[in-house]
Parts: sequence; C-alpha cells; structure tokens
Amino acid sequence: MSRILVLNGPNLGRLGTREPDVYGSFTLVDLQKTLSAAAGSVEVDVRQTDSEPELMSWLFEAVDTKTPVILNPAAFTHYSYALRDAVAQVTKAGIPLIEVHISNPHAREEFRHNSVISAVATGVIAGFGQDSYLLALTQLTR
Ligand code: DQA
Repeated sequence: MSRILVLNGPNLGRLGTREPDVYGSFTLVDLQKTLSAAAGSVEVDVRQTDSEPELMSWLFEAVDTKTPVILNPAAFTHYSYALRDAVAQVTKAGIPLIEVHISNPHAREEFRHNSVISAVATGVIAGFGQDSYLLALTQLTR
C-alpha cells in the first residue's frame, strides 16, 4: 500500500478552535504532519469537506484506486444513509475503511450513540483524540 486517504466530514475544518474541551486543540494541519511522520513511506492524504456529495466522491475515488481509508464522518455518522452506501462500496470491494471519532460519541448526547456507518466499516476507533487517527493508521500499515 502506498497511500491512505484520511477523510473528514462537516465542521472538522474547525478543529483547533471548535469545542477544544471535546475535540482538543490540534488542527487538520497538525493531523497531516503527525500522520505523515508516523506513516513512513506511505503517503497520507488528509482532506476535509462540509459537503456530503464531495465526501462521497472521495469514497468512490478510494474504490476506483483501491486506496484504504480512515474516515471521520462527523455528524454524517448519525444519519447519512447516502454516506453509508458509499462506505459499503469501499469495504465490499475489499478495501479497508476504519471509522474514527475524536470524542467517544457513546459518552455524549443520545443522538450520537447510533452510527449508520459502523455496520459497513471494517472497524471503529473512538474516544482517543488525535490518537484515534494514529491507531487507525497503525492498523492499516501493520
Ligand atoms: C465526531 C463525533 C460526532 O458526533 C460529531 O458530530 C463530530 C465529530 C468526533 O470525531 O468525535 O463532528 O465524529
């Protein structure tokens, strides 16, 4: 494997200033640097969008290029069947996709307890801050 896509959904472009008590103070730029440093020769491509169709188009790209994915679907986690169907196309093609969350959604408001993504993801990592992404990277590169 030479490349991993790290896809982030809505509001995650605001990391660093958004609810630091919940999401910490790291930014997407910090995340890109941390993951690239840990990935060695594997290229890490961190992206963020607030747009559901754009996020879906990146998942289609993962299918077409057979690229493993770390996905933080953010609020789409809880209600986007369209995103779920796109994720299923990735994993049913035999490409690993790990759902990650910075916070532990199960310890938060009730509406965050359900993920429509988890059942079609390869695995789920939540609650470890920026390290959720690092743990997912470790799993994909071992
Ligand atoms: C999140 C958890 C979601 O419930 C929330 O909507 C987010 C971020 C997380 O990383 O903890 O935007 O996915």
